[in-house]
Amino acid sequence: MGKTIIISNRLPVQLQISNGTLNAIPSVGGLATGMKSVHSGGESLWIGWSGLTDEDTPEDLEDDIDKALKEHGCAKVKLNSEEIDGFYYGFSNRTIWPLFHYFLKYSEFELNYWDTYKAVNQKFADAIIENSDEDDTIWVHDYQLMLVPQMVREKRPNTTIGFFLHIPFPSFEIFRTLPWREEILEGLLGSDLIGFHTYDYERHFLSSVRRLIGLDVSFNEIYLDNRVIKVDSFPMGIDYKKFRDAALKHDSKNTEERSDLQIRLDNHKASSPGSKLILSIDRLDYSKGIAKRINAFEYFLQKYPEYKEKVRLIILAVPSRSNVPQYQLLKREVDELVGRINGELSTVNWTPIWYFYRSLPFESLIDLYTSSDIAWLTPLRDGMNLVAKEYIATRTDKSGVLILSEMAGSAYEMNEALLINPNNFEQQADTLKRAFNMPLDEQVSRNTFLQKRLERYNVEVWANEFMRSLKEKRELGKAFISE
Ligand code: ADP
Ligand code: G6P
Repeated sequence: MGKTIIISNRLPVQLQISNGTLNAIPSVGGLATGMKSVHSGGESLWIGWSGLTDEDTPEDLEDDIDKALKEHGCAKVKLNSEEIDGFYYGFSNRTIWPLFHYFLKYSEFELNYWDTYKAVNQKFADAIIENSDEDDTIWVHDYQLMLVPQMVREKRPNTTIGFFLHIPFPSFEIFRTLPWREEILEGLLGSDLIGFHTYDYERHFLSSVRRLIGLDVSFNEIYLDNRVIKVDSFPMGIDYKKFRDAALKHDSKNTEERSDLQIRLDNHKASSPGSKLILSIDRLDYSKGIAKRINAFEYFLQKYPEYKEKVRLIILAVPSRSNVPQYQLLKREVDELVGRINGELSTVNWTPIWYFYRSLPFESLIDLYTSSDIAWLTPLRDGMNLVAKEYIATRTDKSGVLILSEMAGSAYEMNEALLINPNNFEQQADTLKRAFNMPLDEQVSRNTFLQKRLERYNVEVWANEFMRSLKEKRELGKAFISE
């Protein structure tokens, strides 16, 4: 039996060079954090972009880079800055990302981006061929690499290929606006199994296949030439044990072992008894609804002024895709909103919003998760949203309230959370009030259900189910061909 080859644009570590020294830092984002746990537990090779462009890489460091990546079980695809501009900042993040998250007005249809996307997808496909054998299983990830399955299939007709999309697949009416819609579908159809987080995304994809390329689709199988392609939903889980154990370790720390962040959080609690911390954590991305959330928070304080000085909103936003204009605009908007609201409402004892714009180490995330009474996540669209799951996993005493947008894939599995429409300020203000006052036994009862489900359907189970289904599919496919 061959090995598993994982392939994604983002590797689990990002390489950076500072003062001539190579550093590997963990990648942020659901794909990297989720797959990292799968990768470290098994026998796999992970192929992707190192985070450095050719121009950033002195030749004499090439060997060190390969060595650093090898230590993490990874191999690199080399990309120059022009390729990164057209493929990553361009087609991936200025065309597909906004379109698939229903931000049609942000989506740019540029031939140059498309050409570079094709060329770079071919580079990834070539890297797979170079680093794998016929009997290996190839698992391709996400919207940056949608042409790769077909490109590999052309050279390796009998190899087993799975594809998983970590973002929403939009409805046919949205997807049909893409000038290269048929090519994208054909690229994906090089796979044996195509996975989505939810049944809705799966349905949208099948509907596009039927209506745009007129293929024969029966239930969740697509018939193409002499192949059967299976489409299914696999909601991604988290490394439950990792978060749980980290939270337990956090609980057992003595006063001297606390981090500076934890001391600040504890001081807040000590100085304002009865007050509550509301947490939100996201990449700084317009799909996450950060600006709307801040406006909704202001509205909550206007509607229920008795909560002034009783709540504090912590916003942790990790810098993301900062070369894309919409992300720059959002950064400015969030800075201004936080500045204005804090300026208008702060008192000697109270700052309504604590805003951190940076990536934080894992231990600091745990400090935040375990210290916050409420997590408030309001994406306008989100493929899954793992932060919601991570928050629940760290609540060792089962206290805490999760307020979650119904537009997040995770909302489908987290019915015991308080689900909200992020565009409805009235509902959110009332929900914040409800969360603030929720009796402890109700919190415990809701979180007991949520934790059980997260523990059972963890990321390992998710990956195993995908791989099992992929192998099963290939066996059936072989039988189908030989009939
Ligand atoms: P997305 O994949 O769109 O970024 P998710 O919520 O699914 O959204 O995944 C985000 C992942 O990134 C989570 O695993 C979370 O722990 C991690 N993360 C988010 N913000 C930070 C941060 N500031 N520092 C470090 N890790 C972060
Ligand atoms: C989402 C996408 C991933 C991506 C991550 C971080 O989770 O589904 O493919 O890696 O965001 O974005 P970035 O552009 O930094 O890779």
